Amino acid sequence: MEFGTSSDTDRARHLIPLTRDWGAWNTVSLYLDRCQVDTPDELVAATWAHVNALRTSIGKVVDFGAGDARFARHGSFKEYVGYEIDRDRCRNAALPTNARLVNDCAFSGDVEGADLCIGNPPFVRNQDLPVGWRQKASVVLKRRTGIAVSGLANAWQYFFLLSLASLREDGLCALVIPYEWVSRPSAKALRDYITAQKWNVSVYRLVDTTFDSVLTTSSITIVDKSVRDGQWRYFEETAEGDYRSLPSPSGSEQGVLGYLKRSDIVAGAPRAIRGLSPGTQKVLTLTEGERVRSGLEVGRDVVPCVTTLRQLPNEAKILDEATFRALYRNPGQKCWLIRTDDEPSRALQAYLDAVPEAEYQTSTCLERENWWKFKMPPVPALLMAMSFKGEFPKAVANTIEARAVGGVCGIYNVDPVQMQDLIGGLNGVNIRDRIVAHSNGLRKVEINQLNALFFDVFNSSTASA
Ligand SMILES: C[S@@+](CC[C@H](N)C(=O)[O-])C[C@H]1O[C@@H](n2cnc3c(N)ncnc32)[C@H](O)[C@@H]1O
Repeated sequence: MEFGTSSDTDRARHLIPLTRDWGAWNTVSLYLDRCQVDTPDELVAATWAHVNALRTSIGKVVDFGAGDARFARHGSFKEYVGYEIDRDRCRNAALPTNARLVNDCAFSGDVEGADLCIGNPPFVRNQDLPVGWRQKASVVLKRRTGIAVSGLANAWQYFFLLSLASLREDGLCALVIPYEWVSRPSAKALRDYITAQKWNVSVYRLVDTTFDSVLTTSSITIVDKSVRDGQWRYFEETAEGDYRSLPSPSGSEQGVLGYLKRSDIVAGAPRAIRGLSPGTQKVLTLTEGERVRSGLEVGRDVVPCVTTLRQLPNEAKILDEATFRALYRNPGQKCWLIRTDDEPSRALQAYLDAVPEAEYQTSTCLERENWWKFKMPPVPALLMAMSFKGEFPKAVANTIEARAVGGVCGIYNVDPVQMQDLIGGLNGVNIRDRIVAHSNGLRKVEINQLNALFFDVFNSSTASA
């Protein structure tokens, strides 16, 4: 274990006993660094404004992941308890007399009977959650709510469920969390849980600039357990700071594009498959320069891959050798994926052996027997971007047999006509308004949504194999 400065050492010495069962310190430290977001005062006040509109008197307030307890500096309540793992975050907190901070993990003991759970839980992607953290939190939530949290869930989902579980029967939950929870497949179990209880839900989508360090659309989400009418309402903040009601989570009358489960896709029918998440693109995908310097051979050691379609002009229809060379190989884009479907050559083994441990401290790599050995994905007929700005995601024919990685997905089982249809944006189909905005100006379509769309437009039972 190595620490940079003496204050780092001091922080680690304090945190290690509290996070001992989370896993390697590297992953814990990465997780904690990702948590360091301070909620702007106006947003804390705006969250309290929603609470005050629903409750006139509040007893016990609980804030999981409290930081400096800034949510205790607004609102009126009898008692506030904030749980904060990182002593550095709460050491100099200016606390009102009726507030206290507990320097411990939010999942370490069962809190019950809260009138209000409020806060801004950590935003840390599933890949960056320490393995032990996830296991511990999952066990606690399963026991307390019966919910098995999806392995794809981001940290805030665990905190959301913990908050719901810690409230009284008629309690109120008011959290700053990404708006996309209203439609993301990874949050389905959470939505189903809330739906089954018939709790009343209001989600206020905030303007994109709320947090400049985190690329997401935030929301103030209110779950009122005291109203059991099963109503879900969606709002969008206007430039004037008011809220306008939305007809559906995506804002369109048609509602959010549907989802088709993998198991519901007929064998041989057109389908999208998520781009490979190799564990770390930094070392398992290479630029042309990195490949040459490591003596790795195309074909023997690496195969072409594409992690983004951003640099392809909108009118591009094909990713061929010339385009690949001009836009990926020569400009130093990540464009080679190491091969894992054969015994590594001496050169590839030497490359892998030389990768410093610090470069693969992700849970995906650490959970593998061989940290680098992902399952080689098949070659798709088409490559499609999952994030897009226009009406339909960019798609190109894959004549160089590149593998789809990261935010690029692969499309399989399409005949030449279907391929042309998809490259042409399905002749003007607009899916932009049927997807919940993911980050500033960008829409991100889910794999299951693409598959639902393919099913609709290609009526897939008759599709070619
Ligand atoms: C997004 S910050 C919010 C901090 C503060 N509430 C605010 O709004 O500015 C989330 C906080 O959760 C803390 N945290 C992360 N995991 C935790 C855990 N398991 N138990 C307690 N606190 C945790 C982080 O250290 C961080 O301070």
